[in-house]
Order: sequence, then structure tokens, then C-alpha cells
Amino acid sequence: MRKPFVAGNWKMNKTVDKATLLVADMLPGLEAVKTVDRVVCPPFTSLMVVAGMLAGTEIGLGAQNMHWEESGAYTGDVSPDMVKEFCEYVIIGHSERRAYFNETDESVNKKIKAAIKVGLTPIVCVGETLAQYDAGQTEAVVSAQVKADFAGIDPKDAMDLVVAYEPIWAIGTGKAATSDQANDIIKNAVRKNLAVQFGEEVAQNMRILYGGSVNAANAKEFFAMSDIDGGLIGGASMKPEDFVKIVEAAA
Ligand code: PGA
Repeated sequence: MRKPFVAGNWKMNKTVDKATLLVADMLPGLEAVKTVDRVVCPPFTSLMVVAGMLAGTEIGLGAQNMHWEESGAYTGDVSPDMVKEFCEYVIIGHSERRAYFNETDESVNKKIKAAIKVGLTPIVCVGETLAQYDAGQTEAVVSAQVKADFAGIDPKDAMDLVVAYEPIWAIGTGKAATSDQANDIIKNAVRKNLAVQFGEEVAQNMRILYGGSVNAANAKEFFAMSDIDGGLIGGASMKPEDFVKIVEAAA
């Protein structure tokens, strides 16, 4: 049985003061839902403070990105070791980074390997654009991403990796995929290709999330699907009551 997993991606929102209030508001509700792995991913500037607030709880902390190099002349970036000082998780290859910061399957692949090396668990995002969706290319696009992103990764390291299928047209738009659509892609494009790469047993143990306009009202329907093991939540993860409801829906 795969343990449900729900992560909140705060994106470029919340100063330290606001992040502190947000965590304080949601912490009791999140702590109560022990059967779900719960993770929050604030911006870098709040990681240290939030790490302090989460110490002694079972709530995990994630960063939203990192560089693959250990150190060096990469102005404005952070290394895997720096993330690891505070976090257990790191989001890699979010579609907003692919769209605005030239993230490619090649850089995603390097980052996954770098994360594994320092003991971070990557939450790897894949998903198709609206044009690709309209052209009926979803399965082909997502399959190609999975193959390229996870190339050369040892099956023994793959078991704990988390993947998020996020149709780009559904992110922050209020237009979620249907639960059937999402489950179909997760099963037939994501998990199937993970099985080719890592073997059926590993693929059956990996958590695969749906992301894109998940909210307190629709979460249960997604999480009830056979191959959807939880969610990567953007906007709704910054509304404490809603995020707690979403986590409860995964239990
Ligand atoms: P959304 O974002 O829930 O606001 O659509 C999801 C994500 O970006 O991971």
C-alpha cells in the first residue's frame, strides 16, 4: 500500500512573517492526519524559520528548486547541501520553472541525481501544455518526460521518489483535469514508464500525485482514483482550512 502524500507549493508567496502565521494556522490540523505524508514548500527565505516551527512534528519541509552543482559561481542559486540543511524534499522541474527559467528534461535529470546524492527526496513534476493537450499528445509528451527525467537513475534509489503529474493548463487556472483523465495519464504514461525504467515492483511503490487546481471541494474525487496517491497543491495550500481539508481528503 502506498502512503498518501500531499505537498503544498507556496511558489513566490509569503514573507517570513506571513509564512510563520500560515504554518501556525495549519499546523494543528495537519498534525492530526497521521496517515498522510504532509509537506509544505515555502520560498527559500522562509525555510529556516519554518524548519524551526516544524521541528518535532511529522510535517515535512521542501524547497521549490535547487541547482545540481555542489557549489560554485552560480549567483542567486542554492546547492543541494544548502537545501538539505533544512529540508527533506525538493520540488524539481515544476512547469513554471520549465516555462520561465529554461528548465529542461536534462537539467531535471541532473537535479534528481544531485538530490538523491545528498539524501533529499525529489518531487518531480511532469505535464503537458494546453497546445499539446489539444493536439492529443498528452500521453506521448508525458511518457517522453518520464523517460528523460529519470534516465540513468538506479532502481534502488527510485522507490522513494515522488512524481507529480500536473497538466500545465490546469495549474493556477481553476481548470482541473477530470479525475478519470488524470488517473488515466498517471497509470498509462507515468507509472507505466516508471515500470519500464525501474521494474514493476518499484513503480507500484512510487507515489504519484496529481496537481493543478486541486481544492477542498474536488480533492476527494482525485484521491479516490486507483493510481493517484495524493496531490501537489498550489493556491489552496496557502489557505489553512482548505489545505487541512485537502490533506484529510487523502487519508
Ligand atoms: P495550483 O498549483 O494548485 O494553484 O493549480 C499547482 C502547482 O503549481 O503545483
